[in-house]
Amino acid sequence: MQPKSPGLTRKNVDPNPFKQFEQWFQAASEAEPVLPEAVSLATATREGRLSSRMVLLKDFDETGFVFYTNYESRKGIELAENPNAALVFYWRQLERQICITGTVSRVSREESEAYFRTRPRGSQIGALTSPQSQVVASREVLERRFQQLMAEYEGREIPLPSYWGGYRLSPDTIEFWQGRSDRLHDRFLYKRQSGGPWQLERLSP
Ligand SMILES: Cc1cc2nc3c(=O)[nH]c(=O)nc-3n(C[C@H](O)[C@H](O)[C@H](O)COP(=O)(O)O)c2cc1C
Repeated sequence: MQPKSPGLTRKNVDPNPFKQFEQWFQAASEAEPVLPEAVSLATATREGRLSSRMVLLKDFDETGFVFYTNYESRKGIELAENPNAALVFYWRQLERQICITGTVSRVSREESEAYFRTRPRGSQIGALTSPQSQVVASREVLERRFQQLMAEYEGREIPLPSYWGGYRLSPDTIEFWQGRSDRLHDRFLYKRQSGGPWQLERLSP
């Protein structure tokens, strides 16, 4: 199969991984028909038992990658006891993958509040309705609670739940993978030691 994207080389890879991410994210936003911002998030317990799931990237800049969720969900509980996490993006149309590792911290309440206000009312009520990751007796229980809350907040602003908000993953490694022919893919790994400059290495595919 012909590669759909040009290869990555020392010459065309940006020395700043966030700029490189921005270029690829922009390209993915144009090329991927569905949810280019969908990303796999892996977390682990204190003992290192892993779990992973998809979330949506809502913001990024040189301080990190932001997603929103329920702080009392399984991922929230794991992140409270172990802040190490990993993200994987996969963009099929471009044959690209980005793997990110780092540590996570909560965004400010102001930042969560500002994002929560941009969400549709139904999603706001949904966040209030669902004790994410807990066992629920039936779908009807959820739907009843949703309708109750809809009625309760009619004509009023829906408050940001105390247990809901954003996390920012501050990266210590970011790897860019470009699919190439004959399995000779390009891989460039950026590594940062305790907030210092980024080192860039080519990895074998
Ligand atoms: C494409 C996609 C995007 C998702 N985005 C989010 C998200 O941004 N935040 C979230 O809490 N859950 C999101 N989910 C649901 C999660 O994958 C997961 O089911 C939920 O967060 C509970 O995970 P946990 O029990 O491991 O904490 C998404 C699921 C899919 C398939």
